Amino acid sequence: MTDRQTTRRAFVTALGALTAAGLVPRPATAAGGAPAAAPDAPRVARGLAPSPDDFAFEPGLVYLQTGSLGPTPRPVMERTMAAWKELELNPAAYGYGAHEIAMELVRAKAAAFIGCGKEEVVLTNCTTEGMNWVASGLTFTAGDRVLTTDQEHPGGRVCWDYAVRRHGVVLDVVNIPPGENDAQAIVDRFAKAITPRTRVLSFSHLLSSTGLRMPVAELSALARKRGCIAVVDGAQAVGGIDVNVKALGCHVYATSGHKWLMAPKGTGLLYLSDDLGKAVDPIALESGRGAYSASSGVCSIPSVLGLAAAMDYHTAIGTAKIEAYNLALRQRLFAALASVPKLRLVSPAAGPLTSPLVSFVLPDAVKSGDLHTRLRARHIEVKVVPGQWFNGNRISTHLFNTEQDVDALVAALKVELA
Ligand SMILES: Cc1ncc(COP(=O)(O)O)c(C=O)c1O
Repeated sequence: MTDRQTTRRAFVTALGALTAAGLVPRPATAAGGAPAAAPDAPRVARGLAPSPDDFAFEPGLVYLQTGSLGPTPRPVMERTMAAWKELELNPAAYGYGAHEIAMELVRAKAAAFIGCGKEEVVLTNCTTEGMNWVASGLTFTAGDRVLTTDQEHPGGRVCWDYAVRRHGVVLDVVNIPPGENDAQAIVDRFAKAITPRTRVLSFSHLLSSTGLRMPVAELSALARKRGCIAVVDGAQAVGGIDVNVKALGCHVYATSGHKWLMAPKGTGLLYLSDDLGKAVDPIALESGRGAYSASSGVCSIPSVLGLAAAMDYHTAIGTAKIEAYNLALRQRLFAALASVPKLRLVSPAAGPLTSPLVSFVLPDAVKSGDLHTRLRARHIEVKVVPGQWFNGNRISTHLFNTEQDVDALVAALKVELA
């Protein structure tokens, strides 16, 4: 072990001990935070959540950051913890027995949830892992081209940078400027950028930067027509909007459990369409697509079983109902933000390209990171949009958010930006 590893291990151990002892400050309790609700305060319903007790947020927190990490509802946490406790009764017996069988049922449930066959679904740890498997499982020759956008999250982009470095692939990039709201213009830009050497079209379903909903069905049809593979980074979509991969027509769809699906952290799904055959052939799938195989090794069994509970949670409410709710709340947010001074909204105002994500640009004098810190001090959690895109923040509205959450954010922004 190197000195650096020893030091890091010592640091992590010490940090763990401090956290357990309550000595590391918790993020949302900065000075000036909203007063915590009294323990006996009446419990209020949270949006579409079936029970007011479903979310374990610290009192007073307005959580508008599902796009980064979703909260896990109590019923999902409880099923995850129950599975973990059961596993520890006899790890080998459960892990290679009942739980392994149950994980195959999770694949079947996931297939029904996103509209494909069980054998087309692979369990992953996250979107990034799925994208990495796809890019590393394709056979490239130098000069092959991949077409993507300038708005891809690193989780959907790094894999292609790797292909450029390792295999001499050329990356072509279509621009999607903040404020874009024209599906046909996006499709036309892609069509124009495809060359005879283009092998892959890779793009997000919902852009991490502005939340714009990409015209996935049209782009997938274009890819198929031009003999390319359509790879979709769906990290921001599944759980927040209704997703049916067959209807979208893409070849590949990677998503995370721990965002809009509100599943345990470190869960994900990868759809590999049957008609890909062996075109995507990563090492991890050498021994098949089962939850546990010789080439994939052991995964976080309780988390995978919790992922099934998260899908059940969504299905019980109804995915179409969740999407309609999230979009209605985002429309309310969008309209209210229009009255906040200094903000420039860059997400689509209305129409088919909208999603439950809304982003705004700030003037240069107001740093998005500073605004984020000040909102956190008010117990409001939002995202800082990475600087390569713009100086701004992104808001997520999911099924547990309410009109009061939206109003609290808008009121806080009016004060902070006055
Ligand atoms: C579009 C997009 N792709 C990929 C990722 C990475 O997700 P994960 O960390 O689950 O791999 C994110 C995370 O925010 C994202 O927004």
